[in-house]
Amino acid sequence: MKQRKGIILAGGSGTRLYPMTNVVSKQLLPVFDKPMIYYPLSTLMLAGIREILIISTPEDLPRFENLLDTGAQWGVEIQYAVQPSPDGIAQALIIGAEFLSGAPCALILGDNIFHGSGFGVKLQEISVDSTRDLTLFACQVHDPERYGVAEISRDGRLLGIEEKPSQPKSSYAVTGLYFYDEQAPKLANELTPSARGELEITALNNMYLSRSSVHVERLDRGHVWFDTGTPESLSEAAQYVQAIEHRQGVKIHCPEEISLHKGWIQPEEVIEQAKLFKNSVYGRYLVKVVEDFRRDVD
Ligand code: TTP
Repeated sequence: MKQRKGIILAGGSGTRLYPMTNVVSKQLLPVFDKPMIYYPLSTLMLAGIREILIISTPEDLPRFENLLDTGAQWGVEIQYAVQPSPDGIAQALIIGAEFLSGAPCALILGDNIFHGSGFGVKLQEISVDSTRDLTLFACQVHDPERYGVAEISRDGRLLGIEEKPSQPKSSYAVTGLYFYDEQAPKLANELTPSARGELEITALNNMYLSRSSVHVERLDRGHVWFDTGTPESLSEAAQYVQAIEHRQGVKIHCPEEISLHKGWIQPEEVIEQAKLFKNSVYGRYLVKVVEDFRRDVD
């Protein structure tokens, strides 16, 4: 199996967050102490993925490039591609086909935040597992009718996914993180636009389901998942991050810290980053990360 690559889809219109997103991408808004895009980026890094494509709108893509650059500061390689209009999540796999060049991938939506004990280890295991064609993550929600809803058998098999059903068959929403084999761009090309004119990710996932077995990982009580598409969920995610970080004194989804612990960058490189942010809490945190790291390895 070729090395798995990552795609972050960070376009969209963000109409539910107007006027906050009138002139800036949703995924550049802050979630407490860092830009939203840091969270999906960190999730891919936790999965051990180092080649990452960011897809966004023609207006926003240069802003992402300014913010994230080549990724070398985090020991990863970031490339960029435009989605001219928000024609559906599955289109990311078509836009990303050249970047993937036959590699399996993890696709994550730019507004999805995952956190929980042991999640990084689980992601790493899934990432290197070549026996799985598709792995989805499902999470219980109180309003499943807003999402793609997974029907799951008693023994944990995925039976089907329904997009925004009026009568949901379960309370498990399919989250915006998908691990595909190398067939995904080819299959996405076979999709036709839905009634709302989009290449639907649920249609692609159901296509996989009709051809082979699809793994669904249920995120239990020890895990949280936010999609930050509404003012309430954006605020809830920020409060969650603030509460955890304040109680534990550690940051959630700090790319420098993840990279240092994976051995992708050296402590001196983190210090260089810290100097750029020396007036911020984030910058001071980076200095502490390096001090703790040096103490642990001594
Ligand atoms: P949505 O929340 O479905 O759409 P949106 O971000 O445009 O917001 P709204 O409904 O408020 O207008 O998108 C989920 C994620 O996927 C979000 O991170 C944006 C991204 N996305 C794209 O980048 N391109 C697309 O074509 C679609 C449908 C979504």
